[in-house]
Amino acid sequence: MSDLMGKVAFVTGGGSGIGRGICERLARDGADVFIADVDEAGAAQTVNLVNQLGRRAHSMRANVASKVQLQAAADACVAQFGRLDIALANAGIGRGGSILDMALEDWQLQVDINLTGVFLTVQAAAQRMVKLGHGGRIVCISSLAAENTGPGIWSYSATKVGVRMMVRGWAQELGPMGINVNAIGPGVIDTPLAAGLAGETDGVIRRNLERTTPVGRVGKPADIAGLVSFMVGQDGEFMSGAYVLMDGGLRDARNRQADPEVMEEMQRHMQAGAQRRARMEPLFRDE
Ligand SMILES: NC(=O)c1ccc[n+]([C@@H]2O[C@H](COP(=O)([O-])OP(=O)(O)OC[C@H]3O[C@@H](n4cnc5c(N)ncnc54)[C@H](O)[C@@H]3O)[C@@H](O)[C@H]2O)c1
Repeated sequence: MSDLMGKVAFVTGGGSGIGRGICERLARDGADVFIADVDEAGAAQTVNLVNQLGRRAHSMRANVASKVQLQAAADACVAQFGRLDIALANAGIGRGGSILDMALEDWQLQVDINLTGVFLTVQAAAQRMVKLGHGGRIVCISSLAAENTGPGIWSYSATKVGVRMMVRGWAQELGPMGINVNAIGPGVIDTPLAAGLAGETDGVIRRNLERTTPVGRVGKPADIAGLVSFMVGQDGEFMSGAYVLMDGGLRDARNRQADPEVMEEMQRHMQAGAQRRARMEPLFRDE
């Protein structure tokens, strides 16, 4: 457990999944939280969760692909709390597709959110950390897909490799100003984004994953949040420019998707995933 009492964390995508898990953990560690997310209802739920833990929280609708909106969110964070000590560039989406027919719009949206969004988040946070003069800690969420790739997922991988490399450059630039920057590569974590890969409790996908993952289970947002807690706490002081994979050993597991029953179930989940994407699409549009 890190002692983050008096610190303020700025978290993009804090309204669901890993981002919500990070907000919860940082609040348990004592930090107040500011959430920037396009999903206002999801963000409001996380604000309630943080409040129930006795910490202060605010949220603002902001699309990480928009410089204007992120700058406004970072300003609102400093206006509300007077500080911005920790930043999480976490918001991201998954848009797969074959090279033969992937739509340019899907490619562009994914690059705008997963790559440009991380750049804009880190820029907005680092500018304020430097101005406030108290240093800071920044963590960017990359992926296991920055190491492994394959059909349909190469475009997502491209954005996540980009995050991994940007972090190394930023660690060099910001270190002299007392700001550490690191990246995390989560494996399969049980969130709405990864529903098709994580499957359901006792379902064929989940059982296959449990069988093939060396630690024998699917990841939870709290797993990633625990690593964030280390990186932004006192024990993480000497870590900067790092990329830490947290995947239960899945990277080197073999034949994890070969079972036809699993493939069939994944198809079903892909259809559900398409429905979720369609629901989220209007959230990215700026009225
Ligand atoms: N779940 C996994 O298995 C997994 C694995 C590796 C990496 N990741 C990465 O972890 C991060 C979080 O993923 P998750 O699984 O929690 O997903 P999620 O879909 O559960 O949550 C993502 C959150 O980000 C928000 N968001 C999306 N686009 C946004 C935008 N343009 N501006 C602001 N907010 C936006 C969503 O509204 C949502 O609240 C992503 O960067 C993802 O690529 C996830």
